[in-house]
Amino acid sequence: MNKNSKGSALLSMMNDLKRNDEVAAMELGVTLKQLQSWIRGEDNIPDELLSKATEIWPVNRRDFEPITDDVPEGLLVVTAEESKLTERILHRKGTPYYAYRDTAMSRMAPFRPEWIAELVDTDNTDVDDERVCWNNGHFLHQFTYFMGPVNFYFMRGSERCLAQMNTGDSMYISPYIPHTFTNRTVRDNQRGLILALTYSSDLGGDARAEMGALGEDTISKMLLPSVSSQGGIKSLLMSHMTDSCVTPKELSSRCGIPLEKIDGFLQCKNKFNFDELILIAHSLQIDVKDLLAYDAQDREVVEILRGNDCDKWGYNDYLFKQLASSKAMSKVRAFEVLVNPALTGGVIRTSLFQYGYVLGPNPVKISWTYNGTTFRKTLQPDDSFVMKPAIEHSFECTQLSKILLLRAPGKISGDALLELSSLPPGGISRAVQENKQWYQS
Ligand SMILES: [Fe+2]
Repeated sequence: MNKNSKGSALLSMMNDLKRNDEVAAMELGVTLKQLQSWIRGEDNIPDELLSKATEIWPVNRRDFEPITDDVPEGLLVVTAEESKLTERILHRKGTPYYAYRDTAMSRMAPFRPEWIAELVDTDNTDVDDERVCWNNGHFLHQFTYFMGPVNFYFMRGSERCLAQMNTGDSMYISPYIPHTFTNRTVRDNQRGLILALTYSSDLGGDARAEMGALGEDTISKMLLPSVSSQGGIKSLLMSHMTDSCVTPKELSSRCGIPLEKIDGFLQCKNKFNFDELILIAHSLQIDVKDLLAYDAQDREVVEILRGNDCDKWGYNDYLFKQLASSKAMSKVRAFEVLVNPALTGGVIRTSLFQYGYVLGPNPVKISWTYNGTTFRKTLQPDDSFVMKPAIEHSFECTQLSKILLLRAPGKISGDALLELSSLPPGGISRAVQENKQWYQS
């Protein structure tokens, strides 16, 4: 973070807390001149000042520490050789189990993508095989792309399951599902590898820090009893009614829907149509989308998609193949993209962060434009990259090649993106980097 952004964070905080320069300088015990130089980014803000601010104001140290931009050109590449240097072998039950290699990751993007070689061989379909070492599941969501013969073991409820995966197959599993992988012994001695692309969701970062501060007891009392379909709409409605201190009778009088119908809905005896939901939402001064639940979602999701069963379609000169996904993570998308040398590379763009891995067998040239500059880079097989959102880019090759793409939102998505999109003129620039006091002196 540069000096000016730290000063901007301080100014933004002072605006939120309704402290002008004079009051803030007095409370922080510094001179007005010194405070103003920190706000303008002319001097580094000393650690003692940050400690003092967190001591006297209701702010956290992390509020001063915005994200480091480690992708200054919009795209960060990790070559296969660089990836190899990160290899470490982890043991399970005293036996080498996985060789892990980091692939492209950024401090900004939600991905934690690993190349993993399975070092234990299994030659049967026994889910209780002693050589199979199960993990406890983990907080991050996981998309996995398979290369070679790999046994994928996972829990479905209390049942141990096995899926025999091959090159081009993919899977998604939701957090905390125990799972593991082994190399499946086959006649031609081909080794199995996976690209385990884990990523954080809305619950990562600040949300996770808030959960830690609130504690399990409080969090448990906040949970919605159901998040799917009509049961989910009922849960959301009851939650909004509780937050707004509105009884069914009050709701009925506000929206004009008979009390019997509202009571019937809350007892799961009848449904509302969309027009009624709009009436209810507006009477609670919320948007109708805030009453819409997932149409279906299980607590534990394992989606497996075979390479031969994937949907394929053409898009801007490329052949896209849909890989495993889940409705539970509807903003995350995974594709295999075939780059055809006979076609010129069409421009594509996404509002999501994008991770890419060159599956090969041939190099791919990527071109992208960031902050008015166009860059070009040749990516070799097994090179990987992370790209910031909203960057126009294209792929070209001289011989047919394939790329794996995984797209996932950062924190600026969903409701946050809607709110950002509705700011008045000039608002975005101030939201990005505050440069004004909230009133003219
Ligand atoms: Fe995992």
